[in-house]
Amino acid sequence: MSRLEIQKSIGLKGKVRISGSKNSVLPILVGSLLTDEGCEVQEIPMLKDVVIMKELLEYVGADINWDQKDAVIKIKTDTIHCKDMTYDLVKKMRASILMLGPLLAREGYAKIFLPGGCAIGTRPIDLHLKGFSALGVEIRQEYGYIEARSKGLVGGKIYLDFPSVGATENLMMAAVLADGETIIENTAVEPEIVDLANFLSQMGAQIHGAGTDTIRIIGVKQLKGVKYKIIPDRIEVGTFMIAAAITNGDIMIENVISKHLNPLIAKLEENNVIVQVMDNKIRVKADAGVHSADIKTLPFPGFPTDMQAPYMSLMSVSDGTSVLIETIFENRFMQVSELVKMGADIKVEGRSAVVKGVKTLTGSNVCATDLRAGIALLLAGLRAEGKTIIDDIYHIDRGYEKVVEKFAKLGARIRRID
Ligand code: EPZ
Repeated sequence: MSRLEIQKSIGLKGKVRISGSKNSVLPILVGSLLTDEGCEVQEIPMLKDVVIMKELLEYVGADINWDQKDAVIKIKTDTIHCKDMTYDLVKKMRASILMLGPLLAREGYAKIFLPGGCAIGTRPIDLHLKGFSALGVEIRQEYGYIEARSKGLVGGKIYLDFPSVGATENLMMAAVLADGETIIENTAVEPEIVDLANFLSQMGAQIHGAGTDTIRIIGVKQLKGVKYKIIPDRIEVGTFMIAAAITNGDIMIENVISKHLNPLIAKLEENNVIVQVMDNKIRVKADAGVHSADIKTLPFPGFPTDMQAPYMSLMSVSDGTSVLIETIFENRFMQVSELVKMGADIKVEGRSAVVKGVKTLTGSNVCATDLRAGIALLLAGLRAEGKTIIDDIYHIDRGYEKVVEKFAKLGARIRRID
């Protein structure tokens, strides 16, 4: 199992180009199942999660050509020949639950092993299933499987008790081929929702209101194949913004849609970090002390939960005390015990973590428990005295393309060791 070795690297400097969004490419690749014509998706990041998604899609019959050099996937699914998503497939990636919508829309049937929880929480799918029932789907659950069937999806009215990203995406993908009109209320408004809606609309779907809390969809008979370029990964942007702040660096981040970063830009300016926004670039500089500032994670456009762990690493070396409240997932402080091994002063009380800034962190052997906790440890390792070794870095490879190369190019002393 490969590990990362990181040595103190103060003053990261230079340019980094952001890859396509992990949380856009996954639903969009699944959305291509909604047509039997070919789709071409561009800006595909080279991620473990994309490798798993490719396996899933090929398993149901998709023909996929992935040109990794040009970051393009060509996908065509003439016929879907298997609709049972087994345990071995689903356990690799929770986002496999997104297969439900397109399989139901195209075949009227899907059987999927219940995606378990993961490090950050139980992650139920009740909102997905309740929404499908409103579209005329019969759901049965037994032996750990969800079996969903319908004689033909019909439009309906759905209210999401929580603005779930995945439920919004799954239900949108089912509704676009349903008979009649669907209204989904209290929808997620993340940029990845808008990206998926733009992709589906280009295919001929009738979707109104994506990016607001109510989405209206008029079902159509069929959708056509398209060429589509996904948005940049806003969480990768945020990660490099924090990297500049935590190493007193000066980084130019390219291929950015800056309005996707508003909560983090505002927060870093509060932390006394210099953020310069240009049209599709952001320059982040930090040469004075980083001030502490509280955060509370919220659905977009609030402070993103995926940035909570990286931000905690920064607050661990700030000049004061900050309170981080995690409202989205019930167990998303897994990085705390590992940061404490590096000398951080953090106390967790339920959904709140009190972080008292310390002068120095020291390198240690630590373990990545999930994707964002893993990258938080990498960021802390760049600041810490001495050497940090991170185990289980497959978590990081799930969501960060060429992570070692990108950081090394900025001057980080980082390498993969087996
Ligand atoms: C998406 O997960 C992202 N993953 C997550 O990114 C991200 O953290 C999350 O949205 C929130 O922004 C992908 O897009 C592949 P949710 P998702 O449904 O769709 C509860 C990363 O690091 N909930 O919005 O699973 C759920 O338990 C990953 O890139 C229900 O109760 O998130 C959670 O507490 C991590 N019932 C909250 O909603 C449901 O049916 C938010 O979940 C569905 C969700």
